[in-house]
Amino acid sequence: MPAADWQRQLPVLTGRRAILRPLQPTDATALLTMVGSAEVGRFISPPPTTLDGFRRFIDWSAAEQREGRHVCYGVVPRRGHTTVGLFQVRSLESGFGVAEWGFALGSAFWGTGLFLEAAQLVLGFTFDVLGTFRLEARAAVENGRGNGALRKLGAVEEGVLRRSFLRCGRYHDQMLWVLLSDERTPPLRLR
Ligand SMILES: CC(C)(COP(=O)(O)OP(=O)(O)OC[C@H]1O[C@@H](n2cnc3c(N)ncnc32)[C@H](O)[C@@H]1OP(=O)(O)O)[C@@H](O)C(=O)NCCC(=O)NCCS
Repeated sequence: MPAADWQRQLPVLTGRRAILRPLQPTDATALLTMVGSAEVGRFISPPPTTLDGFRRFIDWSAAEQREGRHVCYGVVPRRGHTTVGLFQVRSLESGFGVAEWGFALGSAFWGTGLFLEAAQLVLGFTFDVLGTFRLEARAAVENGRGNGALRKLGAVEEGVLRRSFLRCGRYHDQMLWVLLSDERTPPLRLR
């Protein structure tokens, strides 16, 4: 099957507050500061802890995109030039019908409304361009902000995945959140 346009080049998504664009090798420094912090990584799979680690992640992500398995957007506030977070979507089957997403923003941008807008742009791309009909997310039960963010987007809590996530030598329970394309609600109002 020929590669889809997004496999060759991810389209830039533009909102009122944020621009979402493919990661570039030069994003590694900003990502290390923003996403590599202990606060951001507290409840998620540990992000890279070095510049080289983020460079390898950016290369890996571009290769996975070309193979049609994964996309990753960097979040750049309209008033800035550096990447302050990222959204990843990966397919859970061949094709993107069922997919999983994950996201992280630098803690300076929590509670600012940036998440909501960026999430809505990524959801539009995932449902309309990738053709996903079921989008899953897993969040450790202790992750108040992560679960609150998914609830706010209208995701449905399908259950608890007991002791499904190994973090710091201990297995944690995770909430399974799902958005279905045919249950999409109108975009939430931005603050
Ligand atoms: C997840 C993340 C991207 C969300 O961005 P954010 O700017 O913090 O999200 P928002 O503030 O828009 O939404 C979070 C919601 O959770 C609520 N919340 C915060 N702490 C909470 C808690 N302990 N329990 C329940 N809800 C909580 C907030 O009040 C907010 O809802 P509101 O806007 O209706 O008040 C960001 O917190 C982050 O990067 N966290 C670290 C990485 C991570 O955990 N990723 C998610 C993996 S699933």
